Amino acid sequence: MNQIDYINQNKDRFLNELFELLRIPSVSADPKYKGDVVKTAEAMRAKLEAAGAEKTELISTDGFPVVYGEKIIDPNLPTVLVYGHYDVQPADPIELWNTPPFEPTIRKTEIHPDGAIFARGSCDDKGQAFMHVKALEVMLKTNTLPCNMKIIIEGEEEVGSSNLGIFLKKYKEKLKADVILISDTSMIANDTPSIDVGLRGLAYMEVEVDGPKIDLHSGVYGGAVGNPINVLCKMIASMHDENFHITIPGFYDDVLVLSDNEKAELNKAPFSLENYKKDLDIDDVQGEKGYTTLERTGTRPTLDVNGIWGGYIGEGAKTVLPSKAFAKISMRLVPNMTSEKIQQLFEDHFKKIAPKSVKVKVTPHHGGEPVVVSTTSVAYLAAAKAMEETFGKKPIPTRGGGSIPIVALFKSVLGLDSVLFGFGLDSDALHSPNEHYGIFNYYKGIETIPLFYRNYVAMSK
Ligand code: BES
Ligand code: MN
Ligand code: MN
Repeated sequence: MNQIDYINQNKDRFLNELFELLRIPSVSADPKYKGDVVKTAEAMRAKLEAAGAEKTELISTDGFPVVYGEKIIDPNLPTVLVYGHYDVQPADPIELWNTPPFEPTIRKTEIHPDGAIFARGSCDDKGQAFMHVKALEVMLKTNTLPCNMKIIIEGEEEVGSSNLGIFLKKYKEKLKADVILISDTSMIANDTPSIDVGLRGLAYMEVEVDGPKIDLHSGVYGGAVGNPINVLCKMIASMHDENFHITIPGFYDDVLVLSDNEKAELNKAPFSLENYKKDLDIDDVQGEKGYTTLERTGTRPTLDVNGIWGGYIGEGAKTVLPSKAFAKISMRLVPNMTSEKIQQLFEDHFKKIAPKSVKVKVTPHHGGEPVVVSTTSVAYLAAAKAMEETFGKKPIPTRGGGSIPIVALFKSVLGLDSVLFGFGLDSDALHSPNEHYGIFNYYKGIETIPLFYRNYVAMSK
């Protein structure tokens, strides 16, 4: 039987198996779900085994386990190492979901007329990672796996993959491969395939601003004592200038400037600012002066407050001058910035601009390094050809704005290049309420992945 017939005959089962995974709330950030995260790992391992992978196991780390499996057909042939993650972001704010986040439901949308699977993790990344498990099954059942395959699916991507770096060093030999294949990014549209050739890095910080030792009466003391929330807001506001340039000294020192040619290439990707604004329900975009929206998200660093709190936020009004204020601040990094250096620059600057009326604490959270992928490698060309075969159009190389911290480590620790073979859409509401993944995209991925293997082996010869 050929691959397409096998996929068609097993379509419903492929969907139901994904649903089983989506029903387990594998939220890595919230300790409440610890048991479910491990349960998801076990379910993923069982499905990998059932698909025909060998030596499947859960490899423990200091955090959540890594699901491992392999199919070695001939040590002399190339080996593809697949990476994905089975953990998901928290579902909050839960009241904004139209159907419960861990009860997968199919609904049609304007962009997905064939229907989309609504569930946390449907696109990011259970749905996309599971395509690789099913693609393996397809290749094994149709006798078309042309080389060796290894797969790792981790459970801590959404919290920074901090244990995976150690894992890579420890299992360097076991993970020996020729290329990394990952489906955890987006394409431009279902009729406009694209392949990300860049990812941004990340430096995530938490800050605390301490004022008076206790909350004070805002009338008795107001106007005479530094208010930590006022101070924090002013400090944060000062970190961008009127052109939305970041003001931390040295922040841009290592930023790789794109050549005019690279800029022109990047802006060739079809993009409608009008639709972009309409989709997000905003009247205007905002960002660094002198750059287009695609340049801003793909090639420029950022500084964003992710959350800010302090003082009284309960019902009604309470007149209080708060004792403390907090914020979580992330910076997206681009080549050749490094998270360690940026975290240090941020900390030094934040401490320097703090007025004497408060004390500040700065705590770094996770970091991740930026990545660029070559568009001339055999692996990239094999992936591009595979997409061209199934979409009928050459994919456009694009730069994704998100981060996958492990990708830079695949290069620095294992010496391997990655192909970012994503089939989701930016509009699939990753990390947001009502995350979904197109049924078209799910099957298209399962159909396209085996073609990558075939092309990669043929083109490697
Ligand atoms: N899959 C995303 C990253 C992504 C999405 C890249 C779309 C390109 C296009 C990944 O799961 C993610 O969300 N990463 C986090 C990293 C973090 C928590 C360390 C991110 O980018 O915020
Ligand atoms: Mn992801
Ligand atoms: Mn994510």
